[in-house]
Amino acid sequence: MSVRGQAVKSGCDTSSLHAFRGVPPAPQPPSGADVETITEPGRYLDLSLFKVPAGFRGRSGWYVQLWWIVQALLFRPSPQIAYGWRRMLLRCFGAQVGVGAIIRPTVRVTYPWKVTIGDHAWIGDDVTLYSLGPIDIGAHSVVSQKSYICAGDHDYESVDFAIRGRPVRIGTQVWIASDVFVAPGVTIADGVVVGARSTVVRSLQKGFVYVGNPARPVKPRKANV
Ligand SMILES: CC(C)(COP(=O)(O)OP(=O)(O)OC[C@H]1O[C@@H](n2cnc3c(N)ncnc32)[C@H](O)[C@@H]1OP(=O)(O)O)[C@@H](O)C(=O)NCCC(=O)NCCS
Repeated sequence: MSVRGQAVKSGCDTSSLHAFRGVPPAPQPPSGADVETITEPGRYLDLSLFKVPAGFRGRSGWYVQLWWIVQALLFRPSPQIAYGWRRMLLRCFGAQVGVGAIIRPTVRVTYPWKVTIGDHAWIGDDVTLYSLGPIDIGAHSVVSQKSYICAGDHDYESVDFAIRGRPVRIGTQVWIASDVFVAPGVTIADGVVVGARSTVVRSLQKGFVYVGNPARPVKPRKANV
């Protein structure tokens, strides 16, 4: 075995360390012949079986395509200051958008008819609202640049990789800072702050500052009285 191989082997042998700490050993990935078996086609996935369920998108295929054209030709090239224009386009395609909402031209919305944006909320540059399921963003909340609000996923244990919409609810007066990933099914309560580059995979409690991957509370947020 090469020197490199020996180093890897000793680096992976953590069982005695776990026993010492009283921590159950982590499940190990399969190796050798097992890998040959589990990579047989169809054992995990057969993507030839994948289908978008009838009614999943909430609108017909041509309507979805129309939105993609409108987004590409009328929404994204619109002048930065044309906030009223973008609110109007989203409302025409079924979004509920409150008064004074600030939505930047580089925002991407998958299905606007599944999106609610509250009064005076801000949606920053390069934010994606992946609205396979409903996305609600409360009044006076901010979603900052490059954040990805992900309201859908796949059941990776089904052979057809079944697609699922799962709602994301963001309360009022929340700040989601830059480049945050919010996972399907998560609720972020009112007044929460999520630090830059955090990953939110569980619901977050009211009035706390959360940071990290996975996001953990670091302190209460001070309210203005
Ligand atoms: C979350 C945030 C608002 C907190 O600011 P703050 O109240 O000044 O908090 P602090 O700097 O005192 O940080 C508190 C703790 O969280 C940690 N922390 C702060 N932000 C973090 C982040 N994004 N990721 C990981 N840890 C973070 C700090 O290291 C500190 O930990 P420590 O106590 O162990 O040292 C800020 O760090 C942040 O992420 N701002 C976003 C900026 C941004 O996205 N700007 C562009 C959009 S306008």
